[in-house]
Amino acid sequence: MEEVQKLAVVTGANSGVGYEVTRGLLKEGFQVVMACRNLEKANRAKEQLLTEMPSSLLEVSAIDLSDLESIKSFAREFRSKFQHLNILINNAGVLFNKPKRNKANLEMQFATNHLGHFLLTSLLLDLMPDSTSSRVVSLSSLAHKKAEIYFDDINCEQQTKWDAPYAQSKLACLLFADELQRKLHLAGKKVLSVAAHPGGTDSGLFDHMPKLFMQVLRLTFVPLFLHSNESAARPILKAALEGNVKGGEFFGPTGLFEMKGPPGLAKRTKYSKREDVAQQLWEVSEQMLGEPFAVEN
Ligand SMILES: NC(=O)c1ccc[n+]([C@@H]2O[C@H](COP(=O)([O-])OP(=O)(O)OC[C@H]3O[C@@H](n4cnc5c(N)ncnc54)[C@H](OP(=O)(O)O)[C@@H]3O)[C@@H](O)[C@H]2O)c1
Repeated sequence: MEEVQKLAVVTGANSGVGYEVTRGLLKEGFQVVMACRNLEKANRAKEQLLTEMPSSLLEVSAIDLSDLESIKSFAREFRSKFQHLNILINNAGVLFNKPKRNKANLEMQFATNHLGHFLLTSLLLDLMPDSTSSRVVSLSSLAHKKAEIYFDDINCEQQTKWDAPYAQSKLACLLFADELQRKLHLAGKKVLSVAAHPGGTDSGLFDHMPKLFMQVLRLTFVPLFLHSNESAARPILKAALEGNVKGGEFFGPTGLFEMKGPPGLAKRTKYSKREDVAQQLWEVSEQMLGEPFAVEN
């Protein structure tokens, strides 16, 4: 029987962690769809990867995760080309130091990092073969420890800390991974939902931070505490590929302050394990989208 090509989608694959995750998946023989907003950057990244691994099956497809119509259009195009999906890496992310809204007037980090991936997953999940090697990997962050889900203030208008919206969005990614796993289990599915964080790595994520602040950081903090994008991608690749991974697990670097080092199980807050919060977040996300995300059996 002809072997079916293993297929992965990586959002935000044109730089940073997403680029290295794509590289790792190609090395493992996956065909990868790079789901990207900046297509010029994506095509450059694709060429670079093909120079290194010329026989790779790799393509770029447009998506803006802050825009629901763009996500639907990506999913339609994907479904018209492919009949299956083995691994979905919900990697794309933004960090802002000033308030920003999307077209629908939602806080941009919640909209992009969580809600966009919630919708994308709902539109692709039924393409995943019923197997424990089928994985949805959601990217969280150490920042999840600094937040709650502000159900009465999802847009973070009342929050005083500049990074509260980012921290809330990354906590939402972790809670989403858990709730999806519970729903998959209840539906009798073998597909696994797992979460991972890259620790700390100097990437495009900090492009919106003040330049002087970043210059100082790059001379001091970065070389001491952060690791390379390639090393930061390892926990995500572990979550996506390793055979002994269980649904609902959370991976990250296990070295200094969990910012770098070899990948393993990551620590998380008590709040981030609350099933009631995860369930409520799922319902709120459905309401925001105006459509249900039912995990069918
Ligand atoms: N770097 C860290 O220390 C760190 C720590 C914890 C967690 N993380 C998480 O790791 C993930 C990857 O981040 P990174 O560090 O690799 O940063 P990065 O280099 O800035 O990569 C982020 C990617 O997300 C894409 N993206 C942003 N907004 C998008 C949108 N609306 N639609 C589609 N794609 C969009 C970017 O594409 P464009 O080229 O179009 O901007 C880029 O490809 C993120 O989820 C981040 O929260 C990073």
